[in-house]
Amino acid sequence: MIEAREITFKYDSVTALNNVSLFIEKGLKYALLGPNGAGKTTLLMHLNGILRPLSGKIFYGGSEIKYGREALYELRRRVGVVFQDPEVQLFSATVAEDVSFGPMNMGLSSDEVKKRVDSALYACGIYNLKERPTHFLSHGQKKLAAIAGVIAMSPEVVVLDEPIAGLDHIHREMVLNIFSGLNRGGATLIMSTHDIDLAYEWADRVIVMREGTVAGVGTPLEVFSDDKLLKETALYKPIVLDVYQRLLNRGMLKDNGTVPRQRTELLSLLGQS
Ligand SMILES: Nc1ncnc2c1ncn2[C@@H]1O[C@H](COP(=O)(O)OP(=O)(O)O)[C@@H](O)[C@H]1O
Ligand SMILES: [Mg+2]
Repeated sequence: MIEAREITFKYDSVTALNNVSLFIEKGLKYALLGPNGAGKTTLLMHLNGILRPLSGKIFYGGSEIKYGREALYELRRRVGVVFQDPEVQLFSATVAEDVSFGPMNMGLSSDEVKKRVDSALYACGIYNLKERPTHFLSHGQKKLAAIAGVIAMSPEVVVLDEPIAGLDHIHREMVLNIFSGLNRGGATLIMSTHDIDLAYEWADRVIVMREGTVAGVGTPLEVFSDDKLLKETALYKPIVLDVYQRLLNRGMLKDNGTVPRQRTELLSLLGQS
């Protein structure tokens, strides 16, 4: 779906991406991990052409990304980005105006725009904030409004830069459910996060970045079983996997071939042992 081929990017003298190659498969959920400053945001900003690589190429659906006005417009309809900082994303006076902006620019009828805005606001649990001025929202509410704005455009690929940072657990579950719904509807998701346990439980693939490079990619089980990689990238083993592997090693659990990914799966294994 998206391929980055040997891309390098610098902010003045700072090399933020150093020869990064990556393949994003259609329909999968990707978690992007790595310490602050690893280059996650910079990489994500390349996926819809906000940043342009200094060298290397990016392909969308097999064609090289072009950076002309029209081409970028087309690309951004397909690849929606929810920024790390919602202040950057929201620019209209009210929540409803902000969420309408994308769909309106897609040339949809006003009925269709209204329908999409209402359903995005509803899905994000902020329908009640519809007429509120965006600059009076709390940080979490701004994040939810920014997510609604991207969802309203129904992109094929949704890029989420630390979307759950700073959300309470109710809204966290809510947006994760929205993301799952988008994914079931066929959308490809790429989410950066510092939540290792979530990445293990949620993602189909995990990408680990370190110092502007991709240090590892694989299924959650592959990545989190790679102790050397975890050490190098200052990650820890997800609690569910850690407990499971320790109990297995001590003979306290039988290996039935499926490794638990969720807390409830681990607990039910314990219940059976
Ligand atoms: N606008 C900018 N100007 C200069 N350097 C930047 C800018 N944005 C990011 N950087 C630098 O680029 C590197 C990668 O940053 P970033 O992509 O934001 O990492 P992450 O999202 O993983 O925390 C860091 O060293 C950071 O300090
Ligand atoms: Mg970042």
